[in-house]
Parts: sequence; structure tokens; C-alpha cells
Amino acid sequence: MAREQWGSRVGFILAAVGSAVGLGNIWGFPYRAFSNGGGAFFIPYLFALLTAGIPIMILELSMGQKNQGAAPLTFAKLNRKWEWLGWMQTFISFVIAVYYVAIIGWAIAYSYFSFSQAWGEDTKGFLFGNYLGVTSSQFELGGLQLGVLVPLIIAWIVIYAALRGGVKKGIEFANKIFMPLLALFLVIIAIRGVTLPGASQGLNFLFKPDFSRIFDFNVWTAAYGQIFFSLSICFAIMITYSSYLPKKTDIVNNGFMVSLLNCSFSLLAGFAVFGVLGFMAQSQGVGVQDVAAGGVGLAFVVFPKAISMMPFAPGFFGFLFFTCLVFAGLSSAISINEAVLSGFMDKFSVSRKRAVNVYCVIAFVVSLLFATGAGLLILDVVDHFIMQIAIVFAGLIEVIMVAWFFNLDSIKDHINPMSEFKVGAWWDFMLKIVTPLVLGYMGVNQLISDLTTNYGEYTTSAIVVFGWLVVLGTLVLGLTMQFIGWKDEKLLSPNVLNSQS
Ligand code: PHE
Repeated sequence: MAREQWGSRVGFILAAVGSAVGLGNIWGFPYRAFSNGGGAFFIPYLFALLTAGIPIMILELSMGQKNQGAAPLTFAKLNRKWEWLGWMQTFISFVIAVYYVAIIGWAIAYSYFSFSQAWGEDTKGFLFGNYLGVTSSQFELGGLQLGVLVPLIIAWIVIYAALRGGVKKGIEFANKIFMPLLALFLVIIAIRGVTLPGASQGLNFLFKPDFSRIFDFNVWTAAYGQIFFSLSICFAIMITYSSYLPKKTDIVNNGFMVSLLNCSFSLLAGFAVFGVLGFMAQSQGVGVQDVAAGGVGLAFVVFPKAISMMPFAPGFFGFLFFTCLVFAGLSSAISINEAVLSGFMDKFSVSRKRAVNVYCVIAFVVSLLFATGAGLLILDVVDHFIMQIAIVFAGLIEVIMVAWFFNLDSIKDHINPMSEFKVGAWWDFMLKIVTPLVLGYMGVNQLISDLTTNYGEYTTSAIVVFGWLVVLGTLVLGLTMQFIGWKDEKLLSPNVLNSQS
């Protein structure tokens, strides 16, 4: 059976950008930039993009494109002993998939709340109390929250439809709708944002460089973390998406394009978010730093408040903001689920139709955990450990294995003849030296910090169950999968780049 393919190059780029542009661009980047030196943050950020982001993006695109397989098959074809890493990344993606969809659900609900500004005056109380019904611990589930469950089901229906439709008619089609709308809505919000009274004060905060921070190593690790998460690299995703590329593809160009487009979205989001925060600060007569926030707090506590204060059509702008989150989130969620699905389709040679049905039912049932009153508390711990520990080590092992124990020259020989810009010695240097050093430093530091203090001051049992055991689970399951045979051994036969002995 021939592997599915994208309908066009634009289709692939849109889908890859759709995966990269997600909640991280909207609620992660602006706040990270602001709290890590403002304008000065752009130096480490660009550095991280050039030394790690783009080189790994190019690496993953060429691995998937050459081997025509999702992450497990691709790693198994590089070396039979590496299959587990593909699976570990795949299981990491599964974990993210089941909680990411819950956040999309909240955003769907808040799009609807925008019309009446249902959150009222006390947006924080509304979120944690009325809407999420947050319980006192991860182990006190407190029942399903109907207001979370319904939009969660809506999000799953969209994801299911895209996956079921296949690479071209489902995933590519969905991104062709979501991405242009996302760009349009973001531009409208950015224009509204920067024309609000007080906006310049907010933008000033975001862009004013604090060069003293340049010497702070944490600023650099924040920049690298942001780049990895934002580009969706080391998550099995880009390998999977590039496995649907045709035999002849300009990999280098695609890699640059996807990465740079992703960062443009982040910048645009920065204007939108800080324009609005500046306005909010001025209206309340406080400093921007007093209202600035990131993550859930920015999107579901601060923004609703700012929306309610808008002088003109608050319902409309609120709706636009939350649908941006929904579109950005859905296109990322589709990619992350596809990475998992595709891994299993390769391994067991099952048809998409059957695989999608079984997969979506399982993933949906697991995601119900995040529709309970304990959902946010569990999400917070799982997200921290998966993003700060599991993915950092999975990425570190990936670059070390491929750059040191596989022949990078053979990859260059594969991509350079069909790429307009060629990758040269700089690429080897980044992958062999710079990226492993930075990732290693980040990983070890984080490990020490998480072993010595309980993240978020949660109880040790919550940290063990939803943190360490989840991370360990992705590793153990990954190793286990390596011992299960392939339904179709022929898939593994090499059209492969020569492995270095
Ligand atoms: N790149 C996405 C973002 O910036 C996050 C993401 C990471 C989504 C991994 C899916 C998988 O939000």
C-alpha cells in the first residue's frame, strides 16, 4: 500500500506551521519574552532558533521524508535498536494530546462566554470555581464538569474528522481553513490591541531591552525551551508530517520556511497580547508588570478582564481572541494525534479507518480525566514533567544518537542535491556540539530542581503519580514496543541512509 501524501507543498507547509503555531505562540512567547529581558530576549531567542531550532527541524524533516515512516519506523530504520526512542516520543505525544484537547475545550467555552462576558468581575473566581470547579487535590476528582465535557467532545469531533479524512482530505484540508483564519483574526486583534489607549506602554514593556539579563543563563534556557516547544520538534510530529512528502522535496527550504513562519506568528501574538495588556494597565492605573501573565492565567483570567474593559465591541474581540486559541490549538492537536496514530498504523499495518476509530475512543476516554474537577491540577503536573523533563531528554538522546552515532554526511547527501540552499559544516556543528550541550545542561538542571523541590508545591504523591510515573511510563512503554514484532517486516528494509558502523 503506497504511503499517503500531501496534496501540495503549500499544504505541507500549512500543516507543519499549523502544528508549530499553538498555544505556546499566543500565551507562551509574549510572556516569556517579557519576563526574560524584553527586547534583549530576542538575541537568545534568535540564537536558539538558528543553533537548535532550524538545524533539528531540517534533521527531522529529512529523517521522515527519507524513511517514509512515523517516528518509530524512522528510528527503527536508522538502527533497529533505536525504535524505542520513536515510541517514547510517540507516547509523550499521546500524553500531551489528551490534556491539550482539554485546553482547547476551555477556549471553545470561553469563545461562547465572550458574547455575554459571562465571567463577570471576578474572572479568577469564575475560572477556578464556577467553570472548572477545581477540587483541593489531584486525587479528588469531583465528577465531570459539564461545561468542560461538552466543548471537549466538540474538539474531539473536529480532530476525529481531520484524522479520519487522511493526510490530504483531512489534515491538509483542516489546516487550509484554520491557518488563514488564525492569521486574519490575529492581525485584527493585533491592530485593535496596538490602537487601544495605553498600548504603547505595553509594547514598550515587551520590547524594551534589558541587556543585563543577557548574562543570565536562565534566559538562555528559557529561549531554547520556547523554541523546542514552539517548533514541535522532538515530539515525533515533524518526522511523521515529513513522511508524507514526495521523494523530491526541498527540505532545507521547507525547514526554514516553517520555522520562520512560526516565529512570525509569535511576534504578531506579542503585539496583540501586549497591546491589550498596556491598555488594561492604563485603565486600572497600574503598571504593565502588575497585569502581565502567561499560560492559563493570561488566557483565562487576565484576558477576559481586559475584554470586559474594551470600549468597543468587547464580545466580538473576545470571540476573536478565543477562536484564535481554538484554531491554533486544534491544528497542533491534529498533528500530535496524527503522530501517535501513524506510529501504530506503521507497526501493525492497519488501515487508517480502523486505527482512527480505536485510537480516538481510547484517547477520548483518557482525556475525560481532564474534564473532572481535578483536571487543571493534574494537567499542571503532567505538563510540567512532560515538557521540562521527558521531552528534553528524548530530544537530547535523539540529537546525540543521530548526530554522533549515525552518518550525518549521508543525510546531507540525501537532502543537498534537492535543496536550493545546502546545509554545510555549520549544521553538523550545531547538532553535534551546541544542541547536546544546551539540552544536557537544561535537562540536568531541571532534573535536580524537580528532585529537590515539589513542583508547584503539590504533594509528593501527586508529583510521583502524575509526574515521575508518567515520564517513566513513556520510557517503559517505548522500550516494550521495541520487543513487539512488526506486522510487515518489509517496511523496515532499507531504502535507508547507510547506518554508520
Ligand atoms: N507547538 C505548539 C505550541 O506552540 C505546542 C505543541 C507542542 C503542540 C507539541 C503539539 C505538540 O503551542
